[in-house]
Amino acid sequence: MTVETVRLRNGVLELIDQRRLPSKEIWIRCRTAEDTARAIETMAVRGAPAIGVAAAYGVAAGAAALKGRTPSALQFELERHIERLARTRPTAVNLFWALERMRTCARTLLENGADRDRLARALLDEAVRIHAEDLAASRAMADYGARLIPKGSRILTHCNAGALATSGAYGTALGVIKRAHEQGKKISVWVDETRPFLQGARLTAWECVKEGIPATLITDNMAGHFMKSGDVDCVIVGADRIAANGDTANKIGTYTLSVLAKEHRIPFYVAAPLSTVDLATPDGSQIPIEERSHEEIRSFRHIRHAPEKVSARHPAFDVTPASSVTAIITEAGVAKPPYRRSLGALFKGHPVIRTERREKRK
Ligand code: MRU
Repeated sequence: MTVETVRLRNGVLELIDQRRLPSKEIWIRCRTAEDTARAIETMAVRGAPAIGVAAAYGVAAGAAALKGRTPSALQFELERHIERLARTRPTAVNLFWALERMRTCARTLLENGADRDRLARALLDEAVRIHAEDLAASRAMADYGARLIPKGSRILTHCNAGALATSGAYGTALGVIKRAHEQGKKISVWVDETRPFLQGARLTAWECVKEGIPATLITDNMAGHFMKSGDVDCVIVGADRIAANGDTANKIGTYTLSVLAKEHRIPFYVAAPLSTVDLATPDGSQIPIEERSHEEIRSFRHIRHAPEKVSARHPAFDVTPASSVTAIITEAGVAKPPYRRSLGALFKGHPVIRTERREKRK
């Protein structure tokens, strides 16, 4: 069973609308860079690698509508689309990684005299390449990660780091789980519901049911109870940005899980592609944390469950210190502490895309 997240139909980007899952499987069409930016902002598409792939197609859509007649006019117009897409969500570095790749591709073409049509075609090709690489990375991560999972493991995961969070296929953390399941290891999954957006309850649980993976849904505040009772063998989560020293930003609540796992001596794994590793960010204190609408805390799908006037906070991510991470699983292999050295080594033979010049930190 393959879960599709992002697809190209007749040259138009289509996204499964993750706000409507699991009750409805609806695909939305993004014809312009602006449509794509809105889909990212409103979390129709979410999950670090999926956001990166969608943004690359968003730049390609922007390129297809350029009007300029000179290379500098084309570059100026394209940059406006890139900057719009960059303003959508600040934490997942895959977004900036993909935009930087598209920008570099455009610049090289324009310096070599490409005209408008050639630029648009080449940028669409580059987006398709980024998409294909993401699918391949998720398969490779699943292979490396499954080797770390003993038979019969009861695995706890947070948020959704499955096919829906990448551009399809396996996913990151849930990809590792899927591969271990395919290998007949008789694993089972504790699915954290993941307040407030319920990525665990709505999306991870949906993927597990589709794949026939034994899964049990719990609320976030039950994790400690099940760790204490000896019912959790390891934790696997995805990441939105991994700093050069291994500090890892992921969905809010991940840090709490890492503290609990340490207390109970439970291995804590992070699975993420190299496009999530940001060597330009030295440590977790430098990772920008998105603060989303406070209304998302007071209500869910427009049903308010808290007083309208109560103040609320909504940091969408937190940072787990590298010292709490047992290993980081990537498509190029598994990094173990000390991460500054092991992550750097994994990049040998892989291009490092620097994003620090463009990105605005809070
Ligand atoms: O706010 P979201 O749903 O985009 O957050 C997603 C996560 O935190 C995932 O765990 C992370 O992107 C890794 S997904 C492969």
